Amino acid sequence: MTEQDSVLSHWPDAKRLAEQAKCLADAPAYAVNAEKMRETLDYFETKCIRSKRSLEEAAKYIPGGIQHNLAFNHPFPLSIAKADGPYLWDTDGNRYTDFLQGGGPSVLGHNYAPVREKVMEVLQECGPATGLFHEYEWKLAELIHRYMPSVEMFRMLGSGTEACMAAVRAARNFTGKKKIIKVGAAYHGWSDSLVFGTRIPGTGSFEAAGIPDEALAHTQEIYPNDIDGENGLHALLDRNQRAGGTAAVLLEPIGPESGTRPVDRDFNARARALCDEFGALLVFDEVVTGFRLGLGGAQAYFDVRPDLTVFGKCVAGGYPAAGGVGGRADVMSTFSAGIGSGQSRTLVGGTLSANPMSAAAGYYALLEMERTGAPEKAARAADRLGTKILAVLDELDAPFFFYNHGSIIHLETHGVLLLDMTDPDFFQKVSQRKKTAQEIGAAYTAEGLITVAGSRLYTSMADTDEVIDSAAERFARVLRCLEPVQ
Ligand SMILES: Cc1ncc(COP(=O)(O)O)c(C=O)c1O
Repeated sequence: MTEQDSVLSHWPDAKRLAEQAKCLADAPAYAVNAEKMRETLDYFETKCIRSKRSLEEAAKYIPGGIQHNLAFNHPFPLSIAKADGPYLWDTDGNRYTDFLQGGGPSVLGHNYAPVREKVMEVLQECGPATGLFHEYEWKLAELIHRYMPSVEMFRMLGSGTEACMAAVRAARNFTGKKKIIKVGAAYHGWSDSLVFGTRIPGTGSFEAAGIPDEALAHTQEIYPNDIDGENGLHALLDRNQRAGGTAAVLLEPIGPESGTRPVDRDFNARARALCDEFGALLVFDEVVTGFRLGLGGAQAYFDVRPDLTVFGKCVAGGYPAAGGVGGRADVMSTFSAGIGSGQSRTLVGGTLSANPMSAAAGYYALLEMERTGAPEKAARAADRLGTKILAVLDELDAPFFFYNHGSIIHLETHGVLLLDMTDPDFFQKVSQRKKTAQEIGAAYTAEGLITVAGSRLYTSMADTDEVIDSAAERFARVLRCLEPVQ
């Protein structure tokens, strides 16, 4: 696959976006004005009665009442009863246009019938798991190899977190080196060695409560896009070389946190060249981009061949147990090595990993995405939303901005993830903007729009022009009610 085949209509200018991010971070926080907030809270109190009641009960038995990091808590989370195409319905019967899409896995739209029917067939035949091999495992592995030739072999696991863990372990085992370099702000799941510099660059072990320093001793972060700086990728690889070496450079290829801090067009190719120079493996975390940016993933768009690729979300077609790692046969073979092979084994596992249901769901979802052109359709829906929202932002005298990498959209108004760790008021700003982010998210919800944390959106094939145009009008109603906090 080449860039021409990609679903991205353009690559947003990373430097311009970094300037816009700085403007938003330096400006006063924007919040929903008092009248719109009253309307929003009234919506929740009068229209979401059953959600409120069930969440109050849930909080007695579930910490915080919710188990999904991407769920909105303000004023209380919704209890969802039904999902279909672009829509969700809560238990009170309210309908929402859903731009969370399960956190990214459903490019075909919610509860897509042709995949569901195949999954039901598998469940009828052999239930969800037997613990033994099923033909869908190789069918899925072979299909992924067809779309992404760098994935010579594939090992299916239970989640993106597990897959990142497996990639790190395999890289260390294969290279005999310890250091892992990641990009600040990137989220690679919640395993001990990767909760480092998450969400905001430079935050190091800030979120690593409960993780001993020793577990993070060999994890390092660079600032997004920093190849040539004093502490950039080149310098770090060079320093590590004199202290045992770097096992892997782990990257989200569109930029950390799903492109919240986008990379320069040549960043991945330069990272590839440096990995070759210093004998480190290049690992692409395509948990979000894998198949959403096109069936060849971000690696096809950038025409960069990683040594390993990490999968999640789409790889099981929106069904549970979504994870896997794939790549060079020599590195991947360590997963099956062990006594007698002359090579030490990279131990991974999972009782319910690579079960027939998840493998079949992934296999049929990917085939359907190819047949229907779903990644392309989802990306065009995002472009359409962009055209409409940018026209509204043009009318407003506010530092908000919108961009999309195919069907991964950023609509930045609260900018909590764009704050600068070195700002002396960082902590005060984070807590203020977390609050405004929650209020903005609540105002979108009351307009019938579900987003990821009030700033990120995933579109799907189910987002027709009509769905997008209606959503754009509702986004505009909220955007026009945002005012600087005095
Ligand atoms: C880029 C990236 N890597 C890894 C993960 C972890 O995947 P999972 O939630 O399946 O453990 C995520 C989850 O959102 C992600 O966005």
